[in-house]
Amino acid sequence: METALTLAIDTHPYIQAYRHSLEHPEAFWAKAASAIDWVRPPTRIFDADAGVYGRWFVDGWCNACYNAVDRHVATRGAQTAILYDSPVAGEKRSISYAQLQDEVSAAGAMLQTLGVRKGDRVLIYMPMIPEAVIAMLACARIGAVHSVVFGGFAAKELAARIDDAAPRVVLSASCGIETRRIVPYKPLLDEAIRQANHVPAACVILQRPQAIAELNDGRDHDWAAMIEAIRRAGGASACEPMLATDPLYILYTSGTTGNPKGVVRDCGGYLVALQWTMRHLYGVRPGETFWCASDVGWVVGHSYIVYGPLLNGCTTVLYEGKPVGTPDAGAFWRVISDYGVAVLFTAPTALRVIRREDPEGNQRERHHLYSLRALFLAGERADPDTVQWAQRQLGVPVIDHWWQTETGWCIVGNPVVGDRLPLKAGSPTVPMPGYALHILDADGQRLGANRMGTIAIKLPLPPGNLPTLWRADARFRDAYLGTFPGYYNTADAGFIDEDGYVFVMGRTDDVINVAGHRLSTGAMEEVIASHAAVAECAVIGVRDALKGETPWGVVVLKANAAGTPDAVEQGLVALVRERIGPVATFKRVVVVPRLPKTRSGKILRSTMKRIADEEDWSIPATVEDPEVLAEIVAAFRQVRAT
Ligand code: COA
Ligand code: AMP
Repeated sequence: METALTLAIDTHPYIQAYRHSLEHPEAFWAKAASAIDWVRPPTRIFDADAGVYGRWFVDGWCNACYNAVDRHVATRGAQTAILYDSPVAGEKRSISYAQLQDEVSAAGAMLQTLGVRKGDRVLIYMPMIPEAVIAMLACARIGAVHSVVFGGFAAKELAARIDDAAPRVVLSASCGIETRRIVPYKPLLDEAIRQANHVPAACVILQRPQAIAELNDGRDHDWAAMIEAIRRAGGASACEPMLATDPLYILYTSGTTGNPKGVVRDCGGYLVALQWTMRHLYGVRPGETFWCASDVGWVVGHSYIVYGPLLNGCTTVLYEGKPVGTPDAGAFWRVISDYGVAVLFTAPTALRVIRREDPEGNQRERHHLYSLRALFLAGERADPDTVQWAQRQLGVPVIDHWWQTETGWCIVGNPVVGDRLPLKAGSPTVPMPGYALHILDADGQRLGANRMGTIAIKLPLPPGNLPTLWRADARFRDAYLGTFPGYYNTADAGFIDEDGYVFVMGRTDDVINVAGHRLSTGAMEEVIASHAAVAECAVIGVRDALKGETPWGVVVLKANAAGTPDAVEQGLVALVRERIGPVATFKRVVVVPRLPKTRSGKILRSTMKRIADEEDWSIPATVEDPEVLAEIVAAFRQVRAT
């Protein structure tokens, strides 16, 4: 394999390690794999002929739960594995590695009692409570494939995931808690099962005192009662040996249409990559406390609330709360000081909401943050202003790193192999091992330093990255590998500077990033277009000082549409919330007489975005009728004024 970058900082130990990872990938990853406990270690590190683009550790056998839990029990059984802190439920719990093993073993036995076998899917629809982590690990233990769905999605989204993953069992809770709002999950789950074609054989519901769910005869089971029965019968489950290439989980993510993509994660490569990052990217030692303030429903939560820290024998913090309002803007600083957090990982949007409430950092003064060594940011572009503010507040390095659900771990970051590389504002720094990054133009030609294009990764992708989409190899090829043969298309635009630093500027497709949540404008357009009053629509992601972007629906109404435009607007907001969920944050509808289009009928979404963002824009040469753009300017100006 060739070396992708010519870095001016050649002699830095990390850059040498990076080059080694590209020139001798098998040697690099074989060494990294030795940090994992294998049932049978791999003798073949990479098989270029297996799978869609090759597979890692093809003949290795391992178990993710064993590596995350059981292997630590002998040496650190009494150490806290999970610190659950819920300001919204008024509850704190500490679970040791020995207790976690016991809980996970019982939950695995519970799944087996319900007929779950190796390779079966289990859908997990739970808030940020310890049972969510226990459920994931229990699946990993018995060889079931988990698919966690974020609580902010509505029934229709849940139904789409149930149909695609076809789970044998669904594990859920009676409710989530959004600051003060109780979100009953059971009605959403029931509605999703009603809408889905696939019917799970059983649902197990963890009852929370804030909202007791009604259980249906036959299909529904009570989590606590089942676990108690398992314990009474002395039930336990063992770690099932898994091929490294077996799926560990499916995680759905937004694509360009309403049909979410089931990103598959394999067992072996994921463990190896995460273990490498814990030591060399985050620089945490076993026994230290690591806090990823995200949600188990996102990839970041899978990798760095659950698997990464536990693999490394760390204590992981499970925080069920918000950065502000639970109860105040000092919440994050309180958690760091209460638990001696060494490394915090969050999204820039969380810092922006803290800053808005407490710009001077008065809350921060009330807490001791001596334990904190570094703050990592991901999920969206980290604006230099927020990074500098955080650096001033915390006095530790604030390190941006670039991620995708598909990759499972970061693509570009700043590791601790030797000293960290100097930070550059606006750049997440350099590619991680195994990622051969190139900037390509529309024809797939490589561009030189500082030239903006699509960021592509030369195949093969390193361990931990998706081998395919769930039961959809052709869609995987089409969506990621088709545009630039021999490359994975990240669908992010950016450039690499003369020192090899990567700058990630934004998506090239219809995906937007709202408060660190990845959303599909195409999915929202499908919902809006289904409204009886709508003739045409386009959804654009408009710059937002707090959430990074928020969606605006630009809508043309039918001539004979019933109801006032105001009523239609409210109806559309309610419809998107009902079909996609509150997480879509869809609150703004702009009614316009016509949509701007090219002569071939393509809607000029990016021009509208530039206008809405109040950036410089020009009339595209291909525009069908420039007058329409004047109408858009007027309509957006009016929206901004209200
Ligand atoms: N269940 C139900 N509803 C949820 C939910 C969940 N798990 N998560 C969010 N929602 C709801 C919110 O209550 C809100 O509803 P509202 O419109 O009635 O107010 C809506 O979805 C939008 O939520 P969000 O945009 O997340 O705003 P917020 O004010 O609730 O939270 C942040 C703001 C910054 C705390 C939050 O967006 C966040 O933590 N973002 C980081 C995401 C992340 O970790 N990404 C991964 C990369 S690190
Ligand atoms: P998700 O799959 O939800 O993790 O979202 C992935 C997308 O979020 C990427 O394709 C980027 O567009 C964006 N993203 C994530 N991290 C960063 C970052 N550090 N800088 C810029 N964009 C980011």
